[in-house]
Amino acid sequence: MERVVAGNWKMHHGPSATRAFFRDFQPDLGAAPPTLIVFPPALSLAAAVESRGGRPEVALGVQNLHWEPKGAFTGEISASMALEAGARYALVGHSERRHIFGETDEHVARKVRSAALEGLTPVICVGETLDERRAGRVDEVVLRQLHSALEGLSETPGKRFLVAYEPVWAIGTGETATPEDASAAHGTLRRALHAALGAEWAQRVPLLYGGSVKPENARGLLEADDVDGVLVGGASLDPASFAAIAEAAL
Ligand code: PGA
Repeated sequence: MERVVAGNWKMHHGPSATRAFFRDFQPDLGAAPPTLIVFPPALSLAAAVESRGGRPEVALGVQNLHWEPKGAFTGEISASMALEAGARYALVGHSERRHIFGETDEHVARKVRSAALEGLTPVICVGETLDERRAGRVDEVVLRQLHSALEGLSETPGKRFLVAYEPVWAIGTGETATPEDASAAHGTLRRALHAALGAEWAQRVPLLYGGSVKPENARGLLEADDVDGVLVGGASLDPASFAAIAEAAL
């Protein structure tokens, strides 16, 4: 299974900080590195394209997009623009988009559709809140979010995509899911992918864990069953700590 280490910079690192990051990002990954993806702010994408050169290969993505290809949508960017600017991936349905900006499952499905149709690889984010976890609703919530997002892929069968399980209570809180919590949710997602898309696809879709991943806990999470990679927020901003997490995926 493909190993993936992705960094979501959120609203951090303008163009000059982006150049400094790539100058200093020097992980020791050998001949079989994991797939590395960085999601800088859209305004820093050009600086990332220009400065990420050399080893290792780092793919780039956008943190959000609009579902229409163009039009009167002040402040938005489209999948085709992101692709032209050098992005190959798109985060869709991150919990901050859902909870701070009111994105619904339907918005997420439209964004997944647009990303896939334009040639970006969607990274579908799902995850429960603390209240939902306490109410024993983890499976129900992540399956609802997953199935709705998969509707966005109905016109692009066979299109590669990734799923990131990010429990909302673990994001930016220092509170990490245990490897067992991550495995349990990932197992649920893998079985749902199996039922929806068949065994072969279920095994091919990388399942990433996100939520307070750090160099100290990355290896334990990456060794958990059904955890194929990590989506890192805060600890991806520093080149040395992101490099240490990438090395933990070897
Ligand atoms: P965190 O963020 O690693 O800072 O908790 C993860 C994310 O939101 O993708």
